[in-house]
Amino acid sequence: MTPIDPPGSGENSIGVRDRAAHWHPHTDPRRHEQMGPIAIARGDGVHVEDMAGRRYIEGMAGLWCASLGFSEKRLIEAAQRQAMALPFYHTANHRSSSPVVELAETLLAMAPRPMGKVLFVTTGSEGIDTMVKMAWAYHRGRGKPGKRKIISRNRAYHGATVMGASLSGIPAMQSTFGLPLPGVIHATCPHHWREGRPGESEAAFTARLAAEIEAIIAREGADTVAAIIAEPVFAGGGVIVPPAGYFEAVQAVLRRHDVLLLADEIVTGFGRTGNWWGSQTVGAVPDILVSAKALSSAYFPIAAVMATEAVYQSVAEASAEAGVFAHGFTFSGHPVGAAVALEAIRIYQERDILAHVRRVSAHLFAGLNALRGHPLVAEVRGIGLMAAVELMADPDARTPFPPALKFGRIVEQTALRHGLIVRAIGDAIAFAPPLIITEAEIDQMLARFAAALDEAMAQARPLPA
Ligand SMILES: Cc1ncc(COP(=O)(O)O)c(C=O)c1O
Repeated sequence: MTPIDPPGSGENSIGVRDRAAHWHPHTDPRRHEQMGPIAIARGDGVHVEDMAGRRYIEGMAGLWCASLGFSEKRLIEAAQRQAMALPFYHTANHRSSSPVVELAETLLAMAPRPMGKVLFVTTGSEGIDTMVKMAWAYHRGRGKPGKRKIISRNRAYHGATVMGASLSGIPAMQSTFGLPLPGVIHATCPHHWREGRPGESEAAFTARLAAEIEAIIAREGADTVAAIIAEPVFAGGGVIVPPAGYFEAVQAVLRRHDVLLLADEIVTGFGRTGNWWGSQTVGAVPDILVSAKALSSAYFPIAAVMATEAVYQSVAEASAEAGVFAHGFTFSGHPVGAAVALEAIRIYQERDILAHVRRVSAHLFAGLNALRGHPLVAEVRGIGLMAAVELMADPDARTPFPPALKFGRIVEQTALRHGLIVRAIGDAIAFAPPLIITEAEIDQMLARFAAALDEAMAQARPLPA
């Protein structure tokens, strides 16, 4: 394990202090005790720089989020202006502020389908919990309080709260904590390459998966199923784009059984797939959707939950009994977050970020597809500016690496030495660079990746049989 520690081994070095005091999320604690942090000091454009002065292309925009890169002054100035005027106020108990109202109006005008209202939260996971509670209250308001179960999909990532982790289809999110909660059911991931049967066409695969969801609803009882939750394109599960027609087929089932579609647009919202919304890219028509991350280009934690007028009206009815919609957070509708999000959206529109993403996406995939002949590359997949390269010991025979080798992690670490931050998801290497990335920067990113891949391959050879 290579320690990545800034210079200075004295007890005041950031690495030593971090190891002593700081408990990291989504990090192997024992590994961290040995290798310490990568402490980032500054950023500019698509680059970040660590405290030792090493520069990296941030091929993941942080956590799929810093879509305008790491030095967008307009966002910083928007935050400053709003903080000078009103640094905090809340939105509980009828309170409001002007940037929050303007952001709600802006989001409703941009929504992928007509929506009724927007509720603000701080993080993606809070937004996921909010959508589930809205779905429960929606059915309750319509006299169907028994409709509570939520269908999710294997490999989904929906966050780290108790419900977010339960909905996630990633065993590591659950095993330590005795999750998932009861009432969560996982269906097959719509990844044709991995889950398709020999000779099965994408259309047949899609029909089989829609039938599976209908069978789950029949087995559980339609009067017990509230909703299905779905990322339009899977992110943390390995960048998986469903086959064409998947959402149309699934939504036909949902309509038959009065089951809502909750769209997790936390990664896919605001241009990541080449449209404003991933739902537009994959033909989904959500009843409730949550966006976060690129909503503020990650410069301020803010997430937005949008629901149809029908959902809002029914939840309002259901809330009459308690006399309040008893949900929300201290930082719901933070005015600084709203001001930053408004400025981010202005920038996306002024710079026509969608046209840019589509243009450079073609360049990214041309470069990634050129790697298909590489002896370890089994699949290249993705859309817009989210992509993954699946690595295998023998791609032709579909032989994976031995899990203990953690080959993806070796590539991730090697890439750091080549000045590139990517993310290993198992043995798939994910890319989700800032949306502002240029074609020349994509070329650099891919050159560094190819060099890292070859170096990691040399390290891992001879591969265990
Ligand atoms: C698709 C998706 N859903 C939910 C979440 C959870 O968001 P947060 O980490 O802001 O709680 C994430 C975070 O990466 C995500 O990628």
